[in-house]
Amino acid sequence: MKILIVGSGGREHAIAMSVKKSPRADKIYCAPGNAGIAQIAECVPIGAMEFDKLADFAKEKQIDLAIVGMDDPLVGGLTDVLESAGVRVFGPRKNAAILEGSKAFSKDLMKKYQIPTAAYENFDSAEAALAYLETASMPIVLKADGLALGKGVLICKTLEEAKAGVKTIMQDKQFGEAGNRLVIEEFMTGREVSVLSFVDGKTIKTMTSAQDHKRAQDGDQGLNTGGMGTFSPSPFYTKEVDEFCKKYIYQPTVDAMAAEGRPFKGIIFFGLMLTEKGPRVLEYNARFGDPEAQVVLPRMKNDIIDVMEACIDGKLDAIDLQFEENAAVCVVLASGGYPVSYEKGYPISGLDAFEGKEDYFCFHAGTKLSDGKIVTNGGRVLGITATGKDLKEARAKAYEAVKWVSFEKQYMRNDIGKAIDEAE
Ligand code: AMP
Ligand code: GLY
Repeated sequence: MKILIVGSGGREHAIAMSVKKSPRADKIYCAPGNAGIAQIAECVPIGAMEFDKLADFAKEKQIDLAIVGMDDPLVGGLTDVLESAGVRVFGPRKNAAILEGSKAFSKDLMKKYQIPTAAYENFDSAEAALAYLETASMPIVLKADGLALGKGVLICKTLEEAKAGVKTIMQDKQFGEAGNRLVIEEFMTGREVSVLSFVDGKTIKTMTSAQDHKRAQDGDQGLNTGGMGTFSPSPFYTKEVDEFCKKYIYQPTVDAMAAEGRPFKGIIFFGLMLTEKGPRVLEYNARFGDPEAQVVLPRMKNDIIDVMEACIDGKLDAIDLQFEENAAVCVVLASGGYPVSYEKGYPISGLDAFEGKEDYFCFHAGTKLSDGKIVTNGGRVLGITATGKDLKEARAKAYEAVKWVSFEKQYMRNDIGKAIDEAE
C-alpha cells in the first residue's frame, strides 16, 4: 500500500513509525514531514493546509490511505477534500472534527447528551460575558471557542483577571477568529488524564491511558505549551475510572455525534479531569495527542493500518486492540524560550545513538535538514522516548537518553513523570 501522512510533528513521526512496522506499507510519503520522518518516509514539500495540492499529489501517486495527523487541516475539512478526490482517508470529516474545532459546540453536545463536564455558558459578545462574570464565583475558566494551539484557555483567579481575559480573547483577538465566541466554564480540580481512542462512527475502542505535562517549567509552573512530556499508562486511570468513562463518556460521545448526523471516524482524544465527583471531560480533540502519541503508539501491538481501515469501513468491532504490558515515558527537548520566542537552525548532535536500540525512540518534532545536517526548526525539537517494564524504568531510561543528544539552548523539564512517585 501507498500511504500519505499529513503533518510535521513528533506525533506524525510516531504515526510514521507505526505505519512503517506494518508489512502492508510499501511506500510512505509525508507532507511536509521533518528530518526524522525523512529517515523512514519520503517527505514532500506540501503544507498541511494546501488542500488542493495534497489532493493532486494523492491522485498522482495513487495513495491508498491518507492519514491526517493535525488539528488545523481536519477542522478545515481536508478529509472531505481528499475524499472528493477519491482518496481513502483516516481522520474525521469537517462536520465531525468540529468536536475539537469549536469548544462551544462540544460543550453544547455534552450538555444535550448529559456527558459529565464542567458547568458553562457560551457567549457571542464581550458585553454579555462581562456582565455574566459580575455574578460568577472565582476562579473561573475562559476558553476561546476555536483552535488556538492549546493556548486559548485562561484560568482566572480574580474578577479583574477574568475581565482582562475577556478583553484579550474577544476584543484584542489575541487568538484571532478563535475568540469570536467564548466559553466561560466552572473551575475544576483533579488529576488530568488523556485517553485516545479509535472510532468508526459507531464503535469506540480506547487505547492505553497517558498523562501530559502542559506547563513549560518544572512543578507545573510557567506558560501552557503543546506538551513538554508524557507517560503511559497513567497509574491514576483505574479500572473504576475506565468503567465510569466507558459508560458515561466514551460511547455516549460517539452515539451523540452519530445522532447529530455527524458520525465520527478517526481518533477521539478525551482530555479528562479526575475530580472528587468523578471523571469529567475537559476537552475533546479530533486527533492523536502530541506528545501522547509518542508514548501510546510504541506500546500498541496491532497493525495500525488494519485498525485505521477498520475505522474507515465501520468494522472496528472486529478488532482486538492490544497494548504491551510495559510503560513509556517521553521527555520533550525544546528550544530555550519556547513557548514564547526562540531561535532555530542549531545543529543537533548525537542522533546516531538511537540507531538499533529497540526500546529507545527519538521522535523529531521540529527539525529540518540544512546543508546535509539536521538542525532545530521549532519550539519543540525532539521527543526522547523510552519503554521499560514499568514507569520508573521507562523514566530512568528516557532521562538517560536525553543526554545522548545536544543542541544549543536546549531546554527540558526535569520532572516528567513525577506523578509516578505520588501514585505509590
Ligand atoms: P483544554 O485545552 O480545554 O484542555 O484546557 C487546557 C488546560 O487548561 C487543561 O489541560 C487544564 O489544565 C486546564 N483547564 C481547562 N478547563 C479547566 C477547568 N474547567 N477547570 C480547571 N482547569 C481547566
Ligand atoms: N498534548 C495535548 C494535545 O495534543 O493537545
